[in-house]
Amino acid sequence: MAQKPNYPFINPSGRPLIEILSDPMRSYSPLDLDILESEVPFSRMSTSVDFSGKQFRFSRNIGLHLPIVTAPMPDVTDSHIATVAARYGCLGIIPATYSAEEQAEAVRQVKKTEGGFIDHPDVLDPKSPIQDALNQRYSNIPVVSDGKLVGIFIQQLYGDYYYRGRESHPISDVMEKDLEKITVSPSSITQNGELSFRKAQQIMEARQIPALAIVDKEMRLLHLVTMKDVVYREKTYPNATRDSKSRLAVGAAVLQYMTDENKQRILLLAEAGADVIVIEQAQAWNADVKEMTRYIKKNYPDIDVVPGNDSVPNAVAFHNANGADGVKIGQGPGSECTSGQVVGLWRPQLSAVFDCAEVARRCGIPCTADGGIKNAYDIFKLIMVGATTAMLGRLVAETKDSPAKEEESGKKLYRAMGSPELVKAHSSAFRKYDPRTFVAEGKSELLPITTTFEELLKGLKSQLIRVFERFGASDAQNARDRFLSGEYRAQYAHRYGTR
Ligand code: XMP
Repeated sequence: MAQKPNYPFINPSGRPLIEILSDPMRSYSPLDLDILESEVPFSRMSTSVDFSGKQFRFSRNIGLHLPIVTAPMPDVTDSHIATVAARYGCLGIIPATYSAEEQAEAVRQVKKTEGGFIDHPDVLDPKSPIQDALNQRYSNIPVVSDGKLVGIFIQQLYGDYYYRGRESHPISDVMEKDLEKITVSPSSITQNGELSFRKAQQIMEARQIPALAIVDKEMRLLHLVTMKDVVYREKTYPNATRDSKSRLAVGAAVLQYMTDENKQRILLLAEAGADVIVIEQAQAWNADVKEMTRYIKKNYPDIDVVPGNDSVPNAVAFHNANGADGVKIGQGPGSECTSGQVVGLWRPQLSAVFDCAEVARRCGIPCTADGGIKNAYDIFKLIMVGATTAMLGRLVAETKDSPAKEEESGKKLYRAMGSPELVKAHSSAFRKYDPRTFVAEGKSELLPITTTFEELLKGLKSQLIRVFERFGASDAQNARDRFLSGEYRAQYAHRYGTR
């Protein structure tokens, strides 16, 4: 048997593969590296791949069931994608191209979807027409007058036929008005200092109601909890990514600049309940990002901060010293990136992640690999070299329900953040678009529409488990250990062709 390599990247001729990965000509995709052999024969498949728990960490306080985060790009993540992502144990990051109000609203939408104890539920006025209630995306809506709860519109209380012809009647005609039945005080459902989902469920079951309003002594609405959330939580989405109040988790991106406008944006995001803020920069190892990281950590200690992107270990140490809760690695691997060719900003992704993840591990912070991912096998390779999660753009943009526009029949336009098309469309969020001076650092592409985002996640999960099985790895840590011990060897892969 060949001697064990002392460096895990090796090609069949015995030269360390890291040299090939540093090829400045960049004639290959940065993830085009294949695992060549393993000391465990590939035929001996692992039968006990363990994806239970939240082993894939995006930031200090956010663990995921699946190592997938959707990129903060307007063609990739909106509140719908972020909601589905969180339900399936992943995470979505709402882009900074939105106005501050729109971005906070998108965060709020995710938090409201099925949140356990919803903090600021949408409410209706008892005098509004029934049609207003029927137009809402929720089927149980608190009805509030002069700041006090007066009922809950419970759609299933009457059959749909009953509402027909009565759409203009006031909501007060059909809402559930029995306040003793539909309300509860916070203290009566608190357990160990926290509102208890189980207690709320028991009360709803006993009173046979689909929703419960938690109110103070003055009947002011504090939270809403619904039976649907209980069922979702326990049966439909057992692996969902949730915050401490059982609401779905969601992140938001901000640009690095310490302007009043940006500070106001962060305040709105914090009020909306964002769990993590991603500071977005093509090269995050800079003084503005340092200041911004420290500002958010000082003023909003409950929100995790993940700056990015970088590709060298010293940048990771820098972010860690500033109090970051995670780092994002990737310069140039993104499918639409041209920053490598234009400004020389790129590094082969597996080398970048391998180096940076080691420093992140020593600092005790997670390390996300961002860009260039085409399939589950790519995610495995990134985890193998040390990434804790992977960020996807293109794979999400090309799904049926992504926010990317269907520009041609069956094809969606995916625009890089530095592409002229995107910068032009969002010039208020970035710099002003001036065609005479604009330098593009990304391009746009029409992508054939694939499947739904939900199907994409289900498929990636099955495939990822399959890859883990093939390589005899039981979980992320085990895959990493096998790689670091030299058990896996890799070769440059030609099979994807050049970029
Ligand atoms: P994928 O390959 O999943 O990558 O589409 C998504 C990631 O690409 C990065 N990105 C860019 N990089 N110029 C760049 O150099 C750009 O204009 C650009 N736009 C997006 C980003 O990190 C994203 O998450």
